[in-house]
Amino acid sequence: MTRLPQSCHLIAEIIENWGGRSYLVGGLVRDWLYRSLENVPADSIGNAQDFDIAVDLRATNRTLLQLLKQLHRRIGATYVYYHRFLTATLHLPEERIDLAHTRDEIYPFPAVLPEVKPAGIERDLKRRDFTINALAIELTKHGMGKVIDPYGGQQDLRQRLVRVIHPESFVDDPTRIFRCLRFGIRFGFEIESGTLYLLRRAVKDGYLALLTPERVLYELRCISKEESALKMLEALFREGVFAGCWRWFPPRGFFTELTRLTQAGIRDELLYLYLLSRLPIDNRFPLTKEERQAQAAIRSFTAIETRLRRARKRSTMYRLLKPVPVPALKVLRVLKGGATRRKLDLFLNELIAVKPDLKPLDLLALGVKPDPQLGKIIERLLCARLDRRVRNRDEELALTRRWLTRNV
Ligand code: CTP
Repeated sequence: MTRLPQSCHLIAEIIENWGGRSYLVGGLVRDWLYRSLENVPADSIGNAQDFDIAVDLRATNRTLLQLLKQLHRRIGATYVYYHRFLTATLHLPEERIDLAHTRDEIYPFPAVLPEVKPAGIERDLKRRDFTINALAIELTKHGMGKVIDPYGGQQDLRQRLVRVIHPESFVDDPTRIFRCLRFGIRFGFEIESGTLYLLRRAVKDGYLALLTPERVLYELRCISKEESALKMLEALFREGVFAGCWRWFPPRGFFTELTRLTQAGIRDELLYLYLLSRLPIDNRFPLTKEERQAQAAIRSFTAIETRLRRARKRSTMYRLLKPVPVPALKVLRVLKGGATRRKLDLFLNELIAVKPDLKPLDLLALGVKPDPQLGKIIERLLCARLDRRVRNRDEELALTRRWLTRNV
């Protein structure tokens, strides 16, 4: 456990002094154990910045808050505490540590967020999605480094299998359908046959339709970050996941476009924006203003494209493309070919950065009147600069003087 940052050891020690036990849990444990089983050098813990620590204190919210205050005093961690979920996020200069009280979770209805109540580590691992994610490493003085594996997670890592811990897993939380396909493809693991049967039954029985758009979008955002995002989206489509969530079937050309985008290295935010542009977005979807604008711009670009194709002057191209959010243009330049792509590249690589040398104060000193004349002249100077009718400050000065004397 020497690769664990000092702060995690200190936290574990403080918790032990409070009579509690702590465990490293989550994806990091899975990845670390998998690497050590596969004999891959285990550098991941050394480089990781996010750590999940489960704490068994059998404590009330009040005790947990006192503990957090002490952690703040002793190691300078700032924290955010979510009392309903018995979790806290600690921020340190080098790492972020998510602390969660070991808990049992009760799902009052399928697909809603669970109610939580404190419980020991074994119950805590049991409520998790897959055996490979139900592994913990003890951080107490006497048990330091001991692997806790009640559901055969290490065996499944060895056999390269994704397996649910209990048969209601996908019903309790249908987002696990996304996670199952995602982990299977990310690691090149097979989905264990019973698990695949349960996954398909949950899809068929309509549980995906109970998910809020927010939770589905979160899963799509996770997929957009993955190297094998295309394969994951194909698997979701094959298993009827999109149809199950929103009765949505990808439009023609969707996978061709996705292939083109992923081959061009488009990932993360940009890939997510593309997905949004093709999904049946309505007002229930919790998008940021920027996301809403960018996806709408990708969706409705054809109208601009027709005019862009005809545009000869650089200033016309600029005027057409300036209102389109840059992330949307970055997606569109990959989707489009020929002249449209050349013009998008010209805009993104060159035109977008063009500015007149003369600033508003220079223009006022020349006798330009404040707005609206000032605004108009700045815009005309920008066009002149874009179309290379002027190339430097002196030429801009001469042109502005000409406009002023001729009063045009
Ligand atoms: N978990 C779960 N069910 C979910 C989401 C999460 O049981 N729907 C549990 C799993 O034990 C998982 C842990 O919470 O390992 C942390 O979840 P998360 O950070 O989303 O995933 P990781 O497993 O860390 O995966 P990644 O490598 O993608 O970060």
